Amino acid sequence: MPEKIAIIGAGLVGSAWAIVFARAGHEVALYDDTEGQCAAALARIETNLEALEGHGLIDDPAAARARIATAAGLADALDGAAYAQESVFERADVKRAVYAEIDGVAGPDLVVGSSSSGIPCSTFTEGLGIGPRCLIAHPINPPYVIPLVEMVPAPWTEEATVSRCWTLMEAAGMKPVRLTREIDGFIANRLQAALLWEAFRLLEGGYATAEDIDTTISAGLGRRWAFIGPFETIDLNAPGGLADFCARLGDGFFEFVRQGEPAAPLSDAVVGEAHEQRRARLPMATHGERQAWRDRRLMGLAAHLRDARRDSGD
Ligand SMILES: NC(=O)c1ccc[n+]([C@@H]2O[C@H](COP(=O)([O-])OP(=O)(O)OC[C@H]3O[C@@H](n4cnc5c(N)ncnc54)[C@H](O)[C@@H]3O)[C@@H](O)[C@H]2O)c1
Repeated sequence: MPEKIAIIGAGLVGSAWAIVFARAGHEVALYDDTEGQCAAALARIETNLEALEGHGLIDDPAAARARIATAAGLADALDGAAYAQESVFERADVKRAVYAEIDGVAGPDLVVGSSSSGIPCSTFTEGLGIGPRCLIAHPINPPYVIPLVEMVPAPWTEEATVSRCWTLMEAAGMKPVRLTREIDGFIANRLQAALLWEAFRLLEGGYATAEDIDTTISAGLGRRWAFIGPFETIDLNAPGGLADFCARLGDGFFEFVRQGEPAAPLSDAVVGEAHEQRRARLPMATHGERQAWRDRRLMGLAAHLRDARRDSGD
């Protein structure tokens, strides 16, 4: 059922969320407290709707665009809204101030999801009347081509809040996952941090170049990860399934991550080295161009995965 969705903070992520909800048939109200941000968001939205159309990932971009409007203020954005996606800066003080403001004007049924990448919801909703109707709904950017959304409840989030957000997200083509309780980094950034940590360690030790480490993922491990996760990967990699895989590898497989040298913080030297190697491959002048290339590839992949799902009936 079409509803009104408020986007609070119309930066990179907020404007991408606007596409997700408008594409799904909802009315979207964009709000940002900085002049010019909504206009910039609308320009970005129009460019991205066009690109999505080019990849067959949206049926009617003009209708989606027509469902997106700019709100004059926070109260205006929230007036009659069923759901708000908060996407302001990743700063606890900024989020706390915004939630206090939302609390003052929200209707009794409003549910609020935060795009927060790592700050748990309990940090900025404690003691607020609206607290039980708030949760984290963390996307991977841009959510109109990457469907994952991580839902993380605060200790006081009501079950009905999670299920309402889940239903809304699924109906909008997102793929929600749920954490039972708060943990720093949620799932995605914990996994990403573990992988990056090892990548930096290999580079620091001089075992391989940044490019070869990247290729290990892009031409290797990542190929499967676009459609199956690490548990399903190992389950399919041994005739007897996951337990058989672990037995075949033996305890030694995890030794090199369990018992390395005591973990020192990431050094400036290794970050500098990785940066220099990347710049040798991709001068900063062509960085934006490469970002646009990545987004086009993601759209192509999203279209391919959609067709593959249709063919296999998944
Ligand atoms: N960039 C990413 O890849 C990414 C991915 C997933 C989640 N996130 C999360 O999404 C959120 C937004 O990130 P972003 O990259 O879009 O940042 P951004 O800087 O592009 O946008 C933030 C917007 O919020 C607005 N804003 C700040 N305070 C406000 C207030 N009080 N009221 C209304 N608007 C306000 C700013 O003017 C700005 O337009 C953060 O919590 C971030 O961690 C980002």
